[in-house]
Amino acid sequence: MKILGIETSCDETSAAVVDHELCLLSNVVLSQDEIHAPYGGIVPELASRRHIRSIAYVVGECLECSGLRIDEIEAFAVTQGPGLIGSLLVGLSFAKGLAYTHGRPLVPADHLESHIYSAFIENRDITYPILALLVSGGHTSLFELKGPLNFRLLAKTRDDAAGEALDKIAKFLGLGYPGGPVIDRLASEGDPERFPFARPQMSDGSLDFSFSGFKTAGLRQIRKLGITRAHPDFLDFIASFEAGVIRALLYNLDQAIHHVEPRSLILCGGVARNSKLREQFLELAENRGVPGYVPSPELCTDNAAMVAALAHEKLKNDHSPGLDLTLNAYSRR
Ligand code: KG4
Ligand code: ZN
Repeated sequence: MKILGIETSCDETSAAVVDHELCLLSNVVLSQDEIHAPYGGIVPELASRRHIRSIAYVVGECLECSGLRIDEIEAFAVTQGPGLIGSLLVGLSFAKGLAYTHGRPLVPADHLESHIYSAFIENRDITYPILALLVSGGHTSLFELKGPLNFRLLAKTRDDAAGEALDKIAKFLGLGYPGGPVIDRLASEGDPERFPFARPQMSDGSLDFSFSGFKTAGLRQIRKLGITRAHPDFLDFIASFEAGVIRALLYNLDQAIHHVEPRSLILCGGVARNSKLREQFLELAENRGVPGYVPSPELCTDNAAMVAALAHEKLKNDHSPGLDLTLNAYSRR
């Protein structure tokens, strides 16, 4: 079965095709970074308008790269939510149109579940139960999967996502948008131990994350020390802030490992592109004797390959999928 996935939940327009063995035949991602960069963050109205302009081109390009004709696609899949509602509606409407016109089923995909299934594209035999740490610009969550598609949310952020904290600190320092990749690059040249950032702790002992206080502590330090690009401590500050975020993420992951005793660990989401987070996640996995999986960087940030991968798993379990034209987008999970 050839599945064409579509993803437009935020500011990437993407389409991808996988085959029955989950081989990725094509994955086209059109970023809108340059449109939102002058505003230092995503402008939802601009994002949805750009999706409208790009979607047909991206799907056409994706088909061309896959070497398939549209009538060879046996199922369509699309992100239903969570995300920006205007952006989601563009992908959802386009996918409904394709499925209806070609008489094929349409598989709805949850964005967070798709991120987790991105790990299966390069590793088909990840064993359950799985503990997944999903870190992106909009989400920071821990999921347990006892079996295929059996998701249990163990923890989430109570305020900002980790990527959001990185992006906001970068914006404040005038480092551009998105800030995560810039911080990743600059942090490699600084001393991560120079400025200690206290790990956020939940008073109720839950595994939930919190990055808002953390971000405020960073902003306070910037003002107090007068950190700018020209400041001699600039790189050390960036490295220390990034290290603090990573420490908070991996501390909770480690706690969760003790609770659920998984047989595999997955790290996914846009922030999983971060070089130090990837390294330290794999180190932790090795120390705990649990295999750790991190998708290639291009499969961590938003892409349609992961949507098709989730749909692939759903279709394995549903032998008569249909087309529900009343499907609606949702902004929150
Ligand atoms: O998964 P994603 O593409 O979109 C959401 O679902 O939110 O994640 C985007 C986030 C942004 O916050 C961006 O700054 C961050 O991923 N990001 C990174 C890196 N590359 C992207 N954060 C740290 N290091 C990176 N190399
Ligand atoms: Zn995402």
